Amino acid sequence: MHREKWGTKLGFMLAAMGSAVGLGNIWRFSFVAGNNGGGAFLLLYLLFVLIIGIPLLLTEVSIGRKAESDVVGSFQKLAKGTPWYLTGFFGIISAFLILSFYAVVAGWAIFYFWNYINGSFFTQPAVGYEGAFGQFIGHTWHPIAWTALFMILTIVIVLSGVKKGIEAANKIFMPLLALILIALAVFSISLDGASEGVKFLFQPNWSALSEPSIYIAALGQAFFSLSLGMGAMLTYGSYLRKENKLPSAALGIGLMDTFFAVISGLVIFPAVFAFGIDPSSGPPLVFITLPSIFEQMPLGGIVGLVFFFALILASLSSSVSILEVPTAYFMRVFGWTRFATSVLMGSIMFVMGIAVSLGFGIWSGITPIGERNILDSMDYIASNILLPLGGLSMALLVGWYFKKSEALESADLSSSSIGGFWYFIVKWMAPILIILIFLNKIGVIF
Ligand code: PHE
Repeated sequence: MHREKWGTKLGFMLAAMGSAVGLGNIWRFSFVAGNNGGGAFLLLYLLFVLIIGIPLLLTEVSIGRKAESDVVGSFQKLAKGTPWYLTGFFGIISAFLILSFYAVVAGWAIFYFWNYINGSFFTQPAVGYEGAFGQFIGHTWHPIAWTALFMILTIVIVLSGVKKGIEAANKIFMPLLALILIALAVFSISLDGASEGVKFLFQPNWSALSEPSIYIAALGQAFFSLSLGMGAMLTYGSYLRKENKLPSAALGIGLMDTFFAVISGLVIFPAVFAFGIDPSSGPPLVFITLPSIFEQMPLGGIVGLVFFFALILASLSSSVSILEVPTAYFMRVFGWTRFATSVLMGSIMFVMGIAVSLGFGIWSGITPIGERNILDSMDYIASNILLPLGGLSMALLVGWYFKKSEALESADLSSSSIGGFWYFIVKWMAPILIILIFLNKIGVIF
């Protein structure tokens, strides 16, 4: 079957950055940092991005480009006759889990956008922003309708094909989102009482490091935010031409993504403290905080409108990369059309998303894992467990199954001075760290 290719390397870069930058940087980063005490979490997260995330991003894209296949097929091709490909299903499963809650949260963002269009969030509603948001997500079908809208948009982009559908829109909206976030951060830091928030984010509370769950949370956030371990970057890499060089691309994507997360933290936490919001509010955190910032800001209504529009586009460029993972796999295996496959996959995810949404309303008593509601449980399994396992499998493939020369060549590092360092990380450091973090979490060590 004929596989599509990116038009240019820039096309790939934009799509991969689009995949990385999304709700993970703003929504997920803020609430996970808030839940895990702020500064110490930020430090661990940055460390993991640098010493595990960016090297594995290069690894994942190289696998895809070398194999020219989807997340399962790439293992089948490169490690023929071994059961390695089974780990590709971690990616397929996490795509279903992640997109079903991603679409719910993106649906909330569309609802906010709508409230800025019609002006109803220009001033506090009678019940306050927190109250209005609580009522909205607790409603049985309102949020589901917005989820459906987001899922339809995602499907439409994916079914119209890789090149035509995904390559363009980010050129304008990612820089726009960056500019708005920088302006918001400046404003947020200038609020009365904001310095507490800056301290929360940048003054690590070292005692937080004695809690095993902070390591797995930071690792999960690094993977989620970089779109790593699922095969989204692998699949995008498979549409690359051989002549495109990878190391600089991986570094660029990683740094850009991290920049967005840190700036988002500087928007959210100063405001959280200035407005007396609980930093460990969980998934609703940014949805409670942001409208209060916009309300205080000159022309805040307009800023809010543009912000949520850019956030929706950033989410779409991530969600399409998630839907692309099972779509590419099922198209190849069953020979279905792109149209039928993406509609079917998206519909299944939407049905799962209904459960996620109800988890904030009539199903809020359902807590599959510990105290976690449906969204948190799915997110935990996918982001903190399956994505790192997927990444581990990719690192082991390149570090142990490939010959060293083959590994270096796949990543365009054969004649580079950093090649040896990257290889050491992929072969030893990243796998050992990931395994230690897992063992530590389940209480086997330390
Ligand atoms: N990285 C995306 C974000 O930050 C989410 C994502 C996760 C996309 C996994 C693809 C794969 O929003």
